[in-house]
Amino acid sequence: MKKWVGIALAVLLVLSLFSGCTKKEASAPAAATASKSEKKETHVTVETKVVSADISDLIKKYKEENEATAKVLKKLGATDEEIKKILPDDSKCATCHPQHFYEWTKSKHYNPVVFSYFAFQSYASDFKKNLDRFPKAKEWDACFRGCHGPTMKYASDKVKDRLYEAFLSDDVENLRGIRVGCITCHSMMVDGELGETYYGTIEDPEAPHGAKFSREMSTSEFCKPCHSKLKIDFVTPEVKEALKMGDYVRCGLNYDAWAQSDVRREKECQYCHMQTIDEPAAEGGKMRIRHRHDFPGPNSPAMMVRAARVNLDAHKMGDVVHVKIEVKNLAEHILPDGCILAAKPVLHVYAYDEKGNQIFYTNETWKVGSYDYQGKFTGSVWKVWEYDTSVMFNPGKWYNFEYKIPYGNAKKVTVKAVMKYHDSKKKEKRPIDPVPSATLRMSNEAVAEVEL
Ligand code: HEC
Ligand code: HEC
Ligand code: HEC
Ligand code: HEC
Repeated sequence: MKKWVGIALAVLLVLSLFSGCTKKEASAPAAATASKSEKKETHVTVETKVVSADISDLIKKYKEENEATAKVLKKLGATDEEIKKILPDDSKCATCHPQHFYEWTKSKHYNPVVFSYFAFQSYASDFKKNLDRFPKAKEWDACFRGCHGPTMKYASDKVKDRLYEAFLSDDVENLRGIRVGCITCHSMMVDGELGETYYGTIEDPEAPHGAKFSREMSTSEFCKPCHSKLKIDFVTPEVKEALKMGDYVRCGLNYDAWAQSDVRREKECQYCHMQTIDEPAAEGGKMRIRHRHDFPGPNSPAMMVRAARVNLDAHKMGDVVHVKIEVKNLAEHILPDGCILAAKPVLHVYAYDEKGNQIFYTNETWKVGSYDYQGKFTGSVWKVWEYDTSVMFNPGKWYNFEYKIPYGNAKKVTVKAVMKYHDSKKKEKRPIDPVPSATLRMSNEAVAEVEL
């Protein structure tokens, strides 16, 4: 039974994702340059009723993770008082906002430390090697204060000084309770401290708790503190020199890329990453424009469809099939973002003969342009001296590729080009959105048949 509710909910999410883009995309700059055939999008009607998912298992898991994290923090010397603030209870929001809770557990904001712990681990080992030189607490504070768990600001210096121990041991798995949670985003990210008034974008909320309107929450400025580069001013010059650190930590750079992109910035982050559904924002509440909270990124094939447009032209030229492919980044920021762990966009090009035998394959890959002090590619986001966006997939730009494929005795050649993500972090079990319905045009792929 539970499974079916889950599937129904998932289908609803996908439908709403696409209705969001068909509804608004018409006036978007990307659509303005689209050809006639591209405008023929299938319209999907959104169901407006709220599907109530059974989220008791999710709440249980949430609580278990928090308990495990509490234990680790205790071991590092945290008091009960500190632990209570570091791990505010987001599960209490689930009773009245089950849909938000369900989606949030699927997002990377739910486990923002453990998802990126490879980066944390390598940082921790640098840290350990230089223990005598690091101003320890300040150092870790930088990772958490804006981004990977703002509530860690309530941890004492004593706890932060010893945090590297957790990152370098099996305890790291138990740091899942450090989150970017409901209470963090809805109070702390607006007020600076955890509070009991929750800010949102409903102008006239009728809530049983403190609720206030915040215009900023519907703008990219709200995402900026966590999704932009961070100045390295938290280590001494000696440590900076010893570790050959750059001037900025360059992990999440989407805001910078968005703010600097040449394409017209008509859409805020929320427009693409928090699509809207017409339904109540709380159990039994009025009809509202509700925002999705699963923050899809490369973990979602449905988002990939929005990330790239692929055009393909193929024709016979002597004894080869001449293929021309154009690819465009439709997101308003560079892909992938500054983190080496981010999934890279890859264009796969295949050709098959009439019997279905593959006669050609190649791929084109974009990468993260992070180089260290020696000009070598680096995966350490705090050691980047040069950040070269020209090797990355830039917004608004067309990329052109040409191939000559010898067809031999084939009578017909089918060429297929598809943009996908190469996930460099295969080990990670990421939540996956269901693949979008086949009736929708996939802008990230194109096929052409050539009769010979
Ligand atoms: C990463 C930050 C973030 C997290 C985490 C987060 N929210 Fe939100 N939430 C937002 C933003 C931003 C909006 C407003 C979006 C807009 O209007 O463009 C919003 C809107 C809302 C609204 C108003 C109705 C709506 O959907 O627009 C409610 C209610 C809400 N969130 C509840 C929750 C709950 C409950 C959780 C935890 C399960 C949660 N949020 C987690 C950022 C967050
Ligand atoms: C007892 C039910 C209940 C609980 C528990 C609850 N909420 Fe709400 N919340 C509501 C209702 C009802 C509204 C108003 C919805 C409306 O007006 O459409 C609301 C509105 C909101 C809004 C929108 C405010 C605005 O002006 O946009 C946010 C944000 C929010 N809640 C966050 C939370 C968070 C975070 C938690 C957990 C700490 C939580 N809520 C717990 C019932 C609840
Ligand atoms: C308090 C900090 C914080 C805020 C505010 C915040 N984020 Fe995030 N976001 C993170 C962290 C941390 C991650 C996980 C990064 C990782 O896995 O290393 C993340 C992940 C994401 C991802 C998933 C990327 C992926 O690889 O799947 C998306 C998309 C995203 N955020 C969009 C947004 C948008 C849009 C907003 C504003 C409405 C926002 N975030 C606000 C901290 C934040
Ligand atoms: C025009 C739509 C659009 C806007 C506006 C937009 N994004 Fe994105 N974003 C995308 C798409 C599409 C992807 C790629 C999805 C995928 O990876 O399949 C993406 C990917 C991401 C990722 C994952 C990066 C990676 O490579 O792993 C993050 C984080 C993110 N966006 C944050 C933001 C933030 C923060 C903003 C606002 C400053 C923003 N986005 C604005 C469409 C958008």
